[in-house]
Amino acid sequence: MEGPQSSTHVPSVLPLLLLLLLGPASYAVAQRCPQTCICDNSRRHVACRHQNLTEVPNTIPELTQELDLQGNMLKVIPPEAFQDLPYLTHLDLRHCRVELVAEGAFRGLGRLLLLNLASNRLSTLPQEALDGLRSLRRLELEGNMLEELRPGTFGALGALVTLNLAHNALVYLPAMAFQGLLRTRWLRLSHNALSVLAPEALAGLPALRRLSLQHNELQALPGAALSQARGRPGNGEDAAAAPCPHACACVSETRHSSCEGRGLQAVPRGFPNDTQLLDLRRNLFPSVPRAAFPGLGHLVSLHLQHCGIAELEPGALAGLDRLIYLYLSDNQLSGLSAAALEGAPRLGYLYLEHNRFPQVPGTALRALPSLFSLHLQDNAVDHLAPGALAGARALRFLYLSGNRLTQVSPGALGPARELEKLYLDQNQLREVPTQALEGLPALLELQLSGNPLRALQDGAFQPVGRSLQHLFLNSSGLEQISPRAFSGLGPGLQSLHLQKNQLQALPALPSLSQLELIDLSGNPFHCDCQLLPLHRWLTGLNLRVGATCATPPSARGQRVKAAAAVFEPCPGWTARKAKQTPASRPSARRNPIKRRHQ
Ligand SMILES: *[C@@H]1O[C@H](CO)[C@@H](O)[C@H](O)[C@H]1NC(C)=O
Ligand SMILES: *[C@@H]1O[C@H](CO)[C@@H](O)[C@H](O)[C@H]1NC(C)=O
Ligand SMILES: *[C@@H]1O[C@H](CO)[C@@H](O)[C@H](O)[C@H]1NC(C)=O
Repeated sequence: MEGPQSSTHVPSVLPLLLLLLLGPASYAVAQRCPQTCICDNSRRHVACRHQNLTEVPNTIPELTQELDLQGNMLKVIPPEAFQDLPYLTHLDLRHCRVELVAEGAFRGLGRLLLLNLASNRLSTLPQEALDGLRSLRRLELEGNMLEELRPGTFGALGALVTLNLAHNALVYLPAMAFQGLLRTRWLRLSHNALSVLAPEALAGLPALRRLSLQHNELQALPGAALSQARGRPGNGEDAAAAPCPHACACVSETRHSSCEGRGLQAVPRGFPNDTQLLDLRRNLFPSVPRAAFPGLGHLVSLHLQHCGIAELEPGALAGLDRLIYLYLSDNQLSGLSAAALEGAPRLGYLYLEHNRFPQVPGTALRALPSLFSLHLQDNAVDHLAPGALAGARALRFLYLSGNRLTQVSPGALGPARELEKLYLDQNQLREVPTQALEGLPALLELQLSGNPLRALQDGAFQPVGRSLQHLFLNSSGLEQISPRAFSGLGPGLQSLHLQKNQLQALPALPSLSQLELIDLSGNPFHCDCQLLPLHRWLTGLNLRVGATCATPPSARGQRVKAAAAVFEPCPGWTARKAKQTPASRPSARRNPIKRRHQ
């Protein structure tokens, strides 16, 4: 109560005092107002909105209480940026392109109640960025790009009631992220990318009443952390009546247990028997022994990334009857035996990116009848042999990007009849593996970009023509495409990516009547009469396609779609044009619809 009182006194008395003491010249100084601002000195309110200011103007009246700087270009808030404005209670810095708040930026603002930093470009906050804001009630950080919060960031905000962190990019909340927020009642974390809350992430919030977490990627509700926040501030140890290995943290209400990055050299024992998520990433387990996870029959999600794992011994996963997600990326695995995966019959998602697999661990997949999604990006797979996926009958998503594939044999993919997404991009394929696509009646998305394809053979996509919706052939060194390369593909195709190739020409593709996206940018189109059919087709398409003429020099830089001057002299131009002109728009629209119904 002291603050507001004194600040209402001071403004009314001080100017008069100055005036009396120092005469008229300083009266003008007391009433100063930066040119770019509007000062309502009776209300102690200054607004300098949308002025492209790159720094806080230095002639703002000292007694200002509310300062509105929204819509400027401050970029950086330097240390003690507001030290000459000690009476500020409201500071609005929305939409100021702020990328950095320096340590001590707000020092001296001990009376500030509201700080609005929403809609800026902050990706991180230094630990002492918010120092000195001891009266702050409300902090708006919505709509930034914050990816992480360091423990202690909010430590100085003992009076804060509302903290808004919605619409950021938070992935993970470390333990004690909100330490010090003793009076905070409302915490907004919606619209982030949170997948894991560290045990104790919400510790230190004893007054919390409302927590919004919608639109995140949490697998389990953090009911635990919440109740901990309500009732038991401080350490989680007294909350942990259930067992928990030394060096780990186990939260009974969320059923999450974590020993991330603790330098462990063996999988610890003694987790609560109802644990659903176990996070062991960033430890060192070169070999995972038989029955490494005893008593964890309720485990759904197991994180073993970055653990130097070279081997999973037979029976390693024994007893994990309910396991659905297994994360083994960023390890040293070069193989997996069926025996190693036995014991996890419900496994749906297997993450094996960034390992050393020279081939798809086909036999192991036979132990996984429910496997839905297999991630093998960035390994050393050079060949998909017949039968490689023999066990994977339920597989929907197969990611093999960034391997060394030169060949996909006929029959290699066939057993996976449910396959919907096939990612073969950034490999060494010299042609589309057409025969291997046979027997994939449900394929929706085929990624072949970044392979040295050069040309497409006729009917290259025929086997998946009926189902395919998205086709990626960008950055594939394509030099020419025959009119029959896409035969079989029809109205089902929604997107076609042909950007960044070497195409000088492309036939019209009228059978692709329902395209929503076709990207032809980054190709050196040669705009002469042979391109007239493409020009005609694109003109009727009503899509932005990015096709640009590279040659001849007279047409360079023109859009293929718009370069009428190039095509006017071509034989056949006038006849068609005359026919089209009277009702050109309506007929162009009706035609595809007719085609659809035929
Ligand atoms: C701010 O910059 C933009 C773009 O340069 C300009 O259009 C605008 O008129 C500027 N505003 C002011 C108030 O100077
Ligand atoms: C877990 O262990 C407790 C006590 O040791 C026991 O009472 C409970 O039945 C066990 N629960 C499961 C699901 O095994
Ligand atoms: C192909 O294009 C897609 C969509 O623009 C993009 O995400 C992908 O990275 C590209 N692939 C390569 C190899 O450039």
